[in-house]
Amino acid sequence: MSLDSLRLLGKQFDQDKKSIADRAGLEEIRVRYLSRKSGRLTLALRSLGQLPKNERRDFGRLGNELRQRIESDLAALETRLAAGEDTVRVRSDVLDVTLPGFSPPLGHRHPITLVREEMERIFIAMGYTVEDGPEIETAYYNFEALNIPEGHPARDESDTFYICDGVLLRTHTSPVQVRTMERQRPPVRIVCPGRVFRRDDLDATHSPMFHQFEGLVVDEGITFGDLKGTLELFHREFFGEDTRTRFRPSYFPFTEPSAEVDISCIFCREKGCRVCKQTGWIELGGSGMVNPALYGFVGYDPERYSGFAFGGGIDRYAMLKYRINDIPMLFQNDFRFLEQF
Ligand code: PHE
Repeated sequence: MSLDSLRLLGKQFDQDKKSIADRAGLEEIRVRYLSRKSGRLTLALRSLGQLPKNERRDFGRLGNELRQRIESDLAALETRLAAGEDTVRVRSDVLDVTLPGFSPPLGHRHPITLVREEMERIFIAMGYTVEDGPEIETAYYNFEALNIPEGHPARDESDTFYICDGVLLRTHTSPVQVRTMERQRPPVRIVCPGRVFRRDDLDATHSPMFHQFEGLVVDEGITFGDLKGTLELFHREFFGEDTRTRFRPSYFPFTEPSAEVDISCIFCREKGCRVCKQTGWIELGGSGMVNPALYGFVGYDPERYSGFAFGGGIDRYAMLKYRINDIPMLFQNDFRFLEQF
């Protein structure tokens, strides 16, 4: 080994140093130059004894300088690499709050739910409370106490789902009227949305299960004018300011007098179209003054109190509001339909 080859070794180290990318690479270079057994610099220094005496001093000095330089270069590099690895790790652990977030898919409310909530909102604003009643009902509440005695055609087996003798799926929400009056003294001001059942086959305009919205007000001095004003206001709120409400004489055992409730056709504004069958009006439900016969069942004084009741199909309101022309669509839970609301 000569002084020149020692200088060359220093240059080779400078080359090798540039290729170090991580701590494993650094270790490899450390072993290559400095390992006790086979390090290139170690071996070079060990050969010192074979040199001519006059060269030994310079060779020893230069060799030791080179060793120190290699050691300090590698130490500095090791510190830099460790810091770099920390940075990489910290970067991958960190939550970048500036990234746009994922929004979880949100469901949609069913059009019937939307309509029910809107109806409740309007009546709650008028001072009503929302009541509930059982879907499996007794013949007493569904018929008897509503002045529909045994043998009445409305009790016909062909219209009603009977579960067993005297127990059935309610055919309307009117039993909640009786249940509420049993529990509560006047003044009564309630609405009751809910499912009802009739033995119809499913087609574009019928369903064996549908939704009704019942209303009941009983107090001193309640008149038919209150009924008219209430439903007029409700329809203007629900369908728009220019909606008119019309009452046609009708018959229900539990109201007297009774009236069918129509609104002016919201599609043609009374000019006549396919939806209103050229009449300009659309039928939405039944109503009337509470038949005093009902007060006998719940212990109200018919001389003191009077009231009105109404009931309409929520599904029908929903179909008009959202321009749906097919009842089954409401119950098939097709995503393509439901996602529109
Ligand atoms: N219950 C009646 C029906 O289902 C509707 C109605 C309710 C009529 C309240 C008058 C008063 O057809």
